Amino acid sequence: MNDDFTPLSQACVNIEDRGFQFADGVYEVIACFGGTFIDLDEHLERLWRSGHAINLTPHLSMEELAELIHETYRRNPYRDAMLYVQFTRGVAPRSHLISKGMLPTLVITSRQLPSITDEKLHQGATAITLNDFRWQRCDIKSISLLASVMGKQEAARLHVDEAFWLDEDGHVLEGCSTNCFAVMDGELLTHPLGHRVLEGITRKMTIRLARKHGLSVCERPWKLDEQGLSEVFMTSTTNAAMPVCQIDGNMIGDGRPGNISLSVRQWLLNHFKELRS
Ligand code: PDD
Repeated sequence: MNDDFTPLSQACVNIEDRGFQFADGVYEVIACFGGTFIDLDEHLERLWRSGHAINLTPHLSMEELAELIHETYRRNPYRDAMLYVQFTRGVAPRSHLISKGMLPTLVITSRQLPSITDEKLHQGATAITLNDFRWQRCDIKSISLLASVMGKQEAARLHVDEAFWLDEDGHVLEGCSTNCFAVMDGELLTHPLGHRVLEGITRKMTIRLARKHGLSVCERPWKLDEQGLSEVFMTSTTNAAMPVCQIDGNMIGDGRPGNISLSVRQWLLNHFKELRS
């Protein structure tokens, strides 16, 4: 927390922290495999972009933050870790108006990186769709995640893994904590960037690797009932790429993880391995 390394159970924030009062902050989730961080620079750049969008300037440099993230990893026992980094605006008496000269609160935690079992991968993930009721700045990785919490809660209630947000015309935007891709006539589709989608680091890596392997990728709005849709998969730091085999109770393709989704997943995992070596 800030400049101190503290056991998780003893780390506390002030109740007047604006993160607590207003969800006034931004965050990142970064994967580390055996000491190698995946796209750390891209995560830091996105954190600075998110901060810039809400006029929150971190009080340390990207290099200094990178060093604190590495040190947090080193001080914890997890070989494959998920590093959570959050900046809030800082502490001030509760008022919507932002006080001048505030010192941001920084929190970094390290946890075991969740892994997907072979059994789950063979089954594929399941999902529901919900009409998008989030705010209009989903490009900002804000800690204000109540809509996503509600979406995930509804997914859990229906015993599925993810909820995908639909725009007013039924296009799939993204999931509560994932980006979403379709395979349509052999081509990869994903919603274009803008205010309604987070620019996922894994999304970007997926597009780059798919093109490198000769797959065509088109960033355009798409719907689940389009002719030629054969596969869906979701991407995120904690999932890499995960096939989605059932949405709203309907099978996608033959209801099993598709070849292209599995190839994309393998390309990502190979890329992580290359980074480690
Ligand atoms: N979620 N879209 C949303 C709304 C997200 O919250 C996330 C990440 C993604 C994928 O982004 P990336 O590939 O950079 O992880 C897309 C993180 C993992 C989370 O909130 O836990």
